[in-house]
Amino acid sequence: DQLVIAIDGPSGSGKSSVSRAVARALGVGFLDTGSMYRALTWWCLEQGTDLSDVAAVAQASRDLPLQIGTDPDAPTTAVGGHNVDAAIRESRISEAVSQVATNLDVRADMLQRQRALIADTAARTGGVVAEGRDITTVVAPDADVRVLLTASEEARLARRSKELHGDAGSASVEATRAQVVQRDARDSTVSQFTVAADGVTTVDTSDLDFDQSVAAVLDVVAA
Ligand code: CDP
Repeated sequence: DQLVIAIDGPSGSGKSSVSRAVARALGVGFLDTGSMYRALTWWCLEQGTDLSDVAAVAQASRDLPLQIGTDPDAPTTAVGGHNVDAAIRESRISEAVSQVATNLDVRADMLQRQRALIADTAARTGGVVAEGRDITTVVAPDADVRVLLTASEEARLARRSKELHGDAGSASVEATRAQVVQRDARDSTVSQFTVAADGVTTVDTSDLDFDQSVAAVLDVVAA
């Protein structure tokens, strides 16, 4: 029997790292759907596709030669055989990704790709933890377990800032704030990921460290 776990949450909620650790603990696959939108954004910039050209970006999405590796010990994202794991985390991508992700034809294409990846990964490894912004609501609304990871704005910004700037992070919280708050605002025009949908369990990680957050999600899975 396959176990599908859907996890949504905003930036800095710990979504990616916690989801990955949950997948590892359960011995199932891991799918980071944000990396798919990031890979498409990278490819559009690489090809010189105008991000405001809705039809061109939608076509780029359908043509995207995307390869996703779902091993939680070494998740990978490649485009046309070229590994883009580092490139898609660059701030030029973080700044542009919402424009791509709010394109409804792109979302329709990604929805199909994500459902296929979830089915395929679950069939191979017995299950999958899929994380993003619309997994509990749109991509896998009938997942066995659905979790919304939240955290206070202060906690989210502190984490994101530390991720981006290492321990010099605390000095850069203000600089990170504008970026993250703006991206969340743009993203929330197409998917609501800050309020739990019916049947979705909220785990607030504001006062939890990493291990406690993983344990809290595993508790929901076991419940
Ligand atoms: O950096 P962060 O963890 O906040 O974001 P991410 O998970 O890497 O996702 C990057 C971007 O992809 C988001 O800002 C959204 O624009 C988009 N995204 C989405 O629209 N739907 C998803 N299921 C996942 C990501």
